[in-house]
Amino acid sequence: EQDILDKLPLKGKKVLVTAGPTYEAIDPVRFIGNHSSGKMGFEIAKAAANLGAEVILVSGPSHENINSNRITTVRVTSALEMYNEVHQHFKFMNIAILSAAVADYKPKFVADQKIKKKDSSFTIELEKTKDILASLGAIKQDQFLVGFALETNNELQHAKAKLKSKNLDLIVLNSLNDEGAGFGVSTNKVTFITKTDAVIEQELKSKTEVAHDLMHQIIKQLNA
Ligand code: CTP
Ligand code: CA
Repeated sequence: EQDILDKLPLKGKKVLVTAGPTYEAIDPVRFIGNHSSGKMGFEIAKAAANLGAEVILVSGPSHENINSNRITTVRVTSALEMYNEVHQHFKFMNIAILSAAVADYKPKFVADQKIKKKDSSFTIELEKTKDILASLGAIKQDQFLVGFALETNNELQHAKAKLKSKNLDLIVLNSLNDEGAGFGVSTNKVTFITKTDAVIEQELKSKTEVAHDLMHQIIKQLNA
């Protein structure tokens, strides 16, 4: 019996995961987006479900798919839709892992007809989106909150600052400097940083393995 419990350490736990990019509409046929594939978040959802958790996966536009009776996938498009969906679930969750590459800015005005080209140059005014992760950090009670940090310089310093300012329990630093890490590839080079400033550097691994390591790191912190 202890064996089964060891293998399903997240049995009875609810885990929220965000994945993928967001698309911010410019007009009915155009948007601002990014190259996130959603793969990291989908792997995290799978790893959590494999450990026994009930998972809600909120994903922006992604070609990834999962079929698991422990995972409920909710598809959204924009940062605002992701924000609203995440907030519907957060209070019922034990763990939230926000791996989505949420757009930082969106067009201030969305044209309701296709914008025609003109002879002159063209400027789109952007405004900030809501920071979903920070908004959860501000209201969290006993949820274990995990964020990602995508950095290209002063990585540790920037990641630690995000951990503090967003009130996280753990942050996953994603190094874009290393070859084979980041968007569109199936490997990732990450470093886990805990609330107590422990820095746990990982090798270049498949996103499946990174997801597995992350879940085990979370379980370790929860049991500490
Ligand atoms: N995030 C979010 N909502 C946003 C922007 C970011 O939930 N509007 C989350 C991401 O899912 C990630 C974390 O915040 O878990 C950090 O994202 P990142 O882009 O690295 O940091 P930012 O805080 O957006 O700062 P910057 O892009 O300027 O580095
Ligand atoms: Ca950002």
